Amino acid sequence: MQGLRSAAWFGASGRPGMVYRSWMRNQGFTTEVFDGRPVIGIATTWSELAPCNAHLHRLAESVKRGVWQAGGFPLEFPAMALGETLLRPTAMLYRNLLAMEAEELMRANPLDGLVLLSGCDKTTPGLLMAAASVDLPAIMVTGGPMLNGKYRGQDVGSGTHVWKFEEEVLAGRMTADECAVAEGCMARSNGHCMTMGTASTMASMAEALGMQLPGSATWPAVDARRYETAQRAGQRITEMVGEDLRPSQIMTREAFENAIRVNAAIGGSTNAVIHLTAMAGRLGVPLSLPDFDDLGRPVPTLVDLMPSGRFLMEDFCYAGGLPVVMRELGDLLHTGARTVTGRTAGENVAGAECFNREVIRPLTDPLMPAGTGTAVLRGSLAPDGAVIKQSAASPRLLTHSGPALVFDAPEDYYAVMGDPDLPVTPETVLVIRYCGPRGYPGMPEVSNVPLPRKLLDAGVTDMVRVCDGRMSGTAYGTVVLHVAPEAAVGGPLALVQTGDIITLDVPNRVLDVEVGEAELASRRDGWKPPEPHAGRGWVRLYTEHVLQADRGADLDFLVGGSGHEVPRDSH
Ligand code: FES
Repeated sequence: MQGLRSAAWFGASGRPGMVYRSWMRNQGFTTEVFDGRPVIGIATTWSELAPCNAHLHRLAESVKRGVWQAGGFPLEFPAMALGETLLRPTAMLYRNLLAMEAEELMRANPLDGLVLLSGCDKTTPGLLMAAASVDLPAIMVTGGPMLNGKYRGQDVGSGTHVWKFEEEVLAGRMTADECAVAEGCMARSNGHCMTMGTASTMASMAEALGMQLPGSATWPAVDARRYETAQRAGQRITEMVGEDLRPSQIMTREAFENAIRVNAAIGGSTNAVIHLTAMAGRLGVPLSLPDFDDLGRPVPTLVDLMPSGRFLMEDFCYAGGLPVVMRELGDLLHTGARTVTGRTAGENVAGAECFNREVIRPLTDPLMPAGTGTAVLRGSLAPDGAVIKQSAASPRLLTHSGPALVFDAPEDYYAVMGDPDLPVTPETVLVIRYCGPRGYPGMPEVSNVPLPRKLLDAGVTDMVRVCDGRMSGTAYGTVVLHVAPEAAVGGPLALVQTGDIITLDVPNRVLDVEVGEAELASRRDGWKPPEPHAGRGWVRLYTEHVLQADRGADLDFLVGGSGHEVPRDSH
């Protein structure tokens, strides 16, 4: 194979070549690995601290088999593992750090092609952002969802049922002991959340973008066919190096448009808006917030999965998975888009068959009509935009005006949410602010705060909440998210006061605060930015450079790519 970049290392003569080869041989490799075959880096986000990714080291072995089989030389290396459940204050604070770390490792090492092993929410976009900036041939293998949770004979969805059980306990319908039993029934195998949360959404986005082999998003983590798929990915990346098939040729504007439409059809997470925007930024693909609304609007929801629906990823897999959805969307997609298979998106899914029409509905009989997906709002409260997941909201609240009850931190709200005298009615709009990229920092998934006890006791099940943070893809409720500019940079959200009337008009895509310009200007004069979170380290770098939600919350200096040329060779 001509012109492999790894040849500059392992094919070098003299002292440098000896150093490159000799130290690698301490792992017992025979000298054939230096014969000019493609070197495939397997970037793994495995860690026992990232439980959703805890099996990726085994999946890597399957990838290696495939690479060896196809005549490549596989080398596994760790990239920052971000576990959604354990990392504080939020894994999102570190997505860009993973992307930056992985990008540098991919560029600095003698690699010709990349396999990206991800699973938990941020690991998929983080690795794709890195691969996009380096632009070496790359294929993604996500770790797959957990098996369906089961509690007392019923399906239990990761994340989604955490919220449900919490509400049940708060409302006195479930005891603490019952909740403890349910806790052990939820995560019963390796894998990521098996609802259509952010991990399942981003795995589906990777497949819709053409960066995963067809069907990869849905095989359960413990299914032998996931391991088979991983082996095939190892074979395929080795071929892709010969074809010089790179992310920039796959993740085009057309591919992003496909992903946005697929996201609407699967009822995917609002987090996809932020991650796809950041990924597009790395590739120089123009993508703005209104694109998500415009492209998603003609697409009905086809997949009946929690949190919007009834089923779970295992059911989605057995029904035929994402290829069925993509075939169903037909001309709503750019079927000619290139993919990692070397075939087009349309060719990949031409033979897809549906085996359960309750789980994947036909376009002619959708679960929810077109126009009920993620809506992008603008208005005096969100000049640069905000989003709401309509399918997770209560239809009666999509047009609503009510007085604001304002909290400067979710913790402030949690401290009083049980107060029977909290000045709150079903019409109240809860405002939780300073939760944006710079504000918290890291834009955590805190926006869907539980309802106050006073309303729960009165039988109220939903209310409008407005926040500059994010919401877990497994969550539900009438929650306006990603308000930009965020409060911490002086967006209008920072100026809202308790009692101000907030108007949400989703059909007309409006989010307004009913306060006059002059009054807002005078409040702005009295507003002071919050103190910086940190004087040093990553948090300082992050808060000084993070972009707003409508630009994907990437760091300003990481937008774009610098390719795979090594700036300087010291040898
Ligand atoms: Fe890892 Fe949900 S916590 S995917």
